[in-house]
Amino acid sequence: MTLDALFLALLIVSSFISIDVGYCKFTLQLLTVFLIANFLSLADGLIVIGLYIVMGLIGIPVFAGFGGGIAYAASPTFGFVYGFIFVILLNHLFSDVLLKRMRNELWKSLIGSIVSLIALYAVGFVHGYLILTLVKGKSDFTLGAAFGLFLAPYIPFDIGKLVIASFISSRYVSVLLPSRRVHFNEIDSTNTYLKENYRIYKNLSFVDASYQSKGKGRLGRKWEASKDEALMFSVLIKDKKLLQNAPILSLVAGSAVFKYLKQIGLKNVSIKWPNDIYVNGKKICGILLESVSHEKIDAVIIGIGLNVNQETFPEGFYRTPTSIRLETGSTMDLRDIKKDLYKTIKEEIVSFKEGTSDCLKVINEHNYLKDEKCFCTYKGEKKEIKVLRIDDEGDLVGIIDGDEKKIISDEITFE
Ligand code: BTN
Repeated sequence: MTLDALFLALLIVSSFISIDVGYCKFTLQLLTVFLIANFLSLADGLIVIGLYIVMGLIGIPVFAGFGGGIAYAASPTFGFVYGFIFVILLNHLFSDVLLKRMRNELWKSLIGSIVSLIALYAVGFVHGYLILTLVKGKSDFTLGAAFGLFLAPYIPFDIGKLVIASFISSRYVSVLLPSRRVHFNEIDSTNTYLKENYRIYKNLSFVDASYQSKGKGRLGRKWEASKDEALMFSVLIKDKKLLQNAPILSLVAGSAVFKYLKQIGLKNVSIKWPNDIYVNGKKICGILLESVSHEKIDAVIIGIGLNVNQETFPEGFYRTPTSIRLETGSTMDLRDIKKDLYKTIKEEIVSFKEGTSDCLKVINEHNYLKDEKCFCTYKGEKKEIKVLRIDDEGDLVGIIDGDEKKIISDEITFE
């Protein structure tokens, strides 16, 4: 609502800055309308434009050059005002439906804006032509003359406004947006999607997919699941304080998944450092942390794949994984799990940021490898390790070759 009011005010102010040239009124209105289309939801965009038109028609001087009143409907340029409705509708049709899968937000917005500008011109032109010829009696007005008089002069400026608005929104839309939940029926990988689009999403946005065609696991492995059998999602982290503690974020996410699985009644749940969750000795969930860096870390993406309704798994796993269904005997509704797990993860991340997280305690108490002797590849060599604990920085402490060592996750893989 605050945003709607802000954009409505901006639209009115940008209408006041108006220069009349012949039948044309040059204003910055359209720049604001494109911003409204890009920054606000469809409903909010239509509310703002609707309010603006109603305010103008009932006599508040909000139209270009302080115009207003019901008589304004008979002015040749009024078509360009109600045509804003089509700008909002078409922009959303393109960005939310037709080009939903397009990765490049700038192009997405440019294409939607160009089409909507053409629609605006069509509405504005027809309205202006009809008013001039039928109402104002200028019957000698040819279409060509009308085009030259009240359309052609706008074109270069409107294209400029369109490009500026698309550029601003593709870069800064996340500043104003609340954290978002986005669902894809099918995508290559939710992690890849967020890595490419992190700029337009706010901290703690969630992206999930019913199916991933190129799901990624750790160490360059594939992560595959049939449609709607697993919960596959990624959480975006952009908060500076959280980014400074990026390595611990997978433990935070792991601890959240652990708590959720316990909460739905699973027994024998444990966390295999750094980012797998096991139930009865079988992997049920994997976590893949990826970061986007340009000089510094700009974003971290926490990708989570939780096996939910699988009954069988393909051959080729070192140890066959498990799923919630295999452990509980019941099929689960993915939507319920998604809602509850999102909530748990969000709470866990917020409490980590506030310094009240117990994730290290949880992982140390339920460490799958604790006190186990197991084989691993450490710095490229096969070794035996006795795992002792996870330290305050989220690193593993274990005994290798008789010495206690602090090990970061990139240095070791377990057999
Ligand atoms: C692993 O066990 O190796 C990590 C698996 C992580 C899989 C999830 S599914 C959602 C997100 N998108 C991906 O491509 N990978 C992660």
